[in-house]
Amino acid sequence: MKGLFERRFVIQTGKGGVGKTTVSAAIALAASRRGKRVLLMEIGAKERGSRLFGSKPLSFEPIEVEDNLFAIHVSPDQALEEYAVLKLRLKTLYRAVFENRFVRSFLRVIPGLNELTLLGKAWYEVTLKDSSTGRYRWDMVVVDAPATGHGIFFLKIPDVITSALSGGPMVDEARQIANLLGDEKTTMLNLVTLVEEMPVNETIELKAQLDAELNVPLGYVVANSVYPPSFDAEEAARVREARASHPHDGSVGDRLLEAGVFRVERVELQTGYLERIDREVDLPQIRVPYYFTERFDFQTISKIADDIDRQVDGGGQTP
Ligand SMILES: Nc1ncnc2c1ncn2[C@@H]1O[C@H](COP(=O)(O)OP(=O)(O)OP(=O)(O)O)[C@@H](O)[C@H]1O
Ligand SMILES: [Mg+2]
Repeated sequence: MKGLFERRFVIQTGKGGVGKTTVSAAIALAASRRGKRVLLMEIGAKERGSRLFGSKPLSFEPIEVEDNLFAIHVSPDQALEEYAVLKLRLKTLYRAVFENRFVRSFLRVIPGLNELTLLGKAWYEVTLKDSSTGRYRWDMVVVDAPATGHGIFFLKIPDVITSALSGGPMVDEARQIANLLGDEKTTMLNLVTLVEEMPVNETIELKAQLDAELNVPLGYVVANSVYPPSFDAEEAARVREARASHPHDGSVGDRLLEAGVFRVERVELQTGYLERIDREVDLPQIRVPYYFTERFDFQTISKIADDIDRQVDGGGQTP
């Protein structure tokens, strides 16, 4: 199996708020530090990348946010425009057709069109070659996919279209995209999750659904926001003993011990969830620590990039 940094099309999915944007940015940064020319593609309504990289707002045109690391933010409308301009080669026709308010509202309701054009944009970037050198423009395209349920629908769309329609230009494109998504030399889909009860349950369900319904090579479960243990097992037992024997008098010592026990219990709880992921999701794990920072900025992304880089070399971590 090819490793994370050997794939050229790396997609992160997972439920809302679990860390897809954070992990995508960190993977892209780690790859760029390995000397790869990387495009980070943020999809959806909110643009968050600029805050992480301290850059100007991301847009449809790639900007270099770090050495070798370029980033874009794509909305369905822009992807559709580029598609139309590329395909129809007529900006004026695009304006006449797609910028017409009524046509636009009609297009919005075609199921799957947004997803297809966004994936089409990703496909375009992954397969784009430099005309002078004949080499791929990007060594790696990292996609921060929309949250699941949208996520799985998003990735299923090319298959849905190719099986529902028998011919036409949209089908040819959907087939090309589906082929790229299914190609395990090129593509890797990673599942991001928080190490808490509900997200872990949802990740187990998501994995089963992906196995049953989607032909996209899976990579890692990225367990995000893992609390680093403050105490080893023996120390934890001593913290508990001290808490039990110390008077519950509300003093600073009392509250410190309470905080210590709280931390020990949090870590134990997470260890249980990590083991559950390991038992029930048949994928190697990457673990990203919880970073307690006032501002979640480049420094933190940089640390997470290092955390990920260390763990994928050996083919992922097992508990
Ligand atoms: N390892 C971490 N340590 C501490 N905070 C984190 C960590 N990872 C993510 N966060 C914080 O959690 C929040 C959600 O992260 P992020 O935006 O990456 O999730 P997402 O899955 O992309 O969310 P959405 O579904 O809304 O796009 C952010 O405020 C982020 O700063
Ligand atoms: Mg996000």
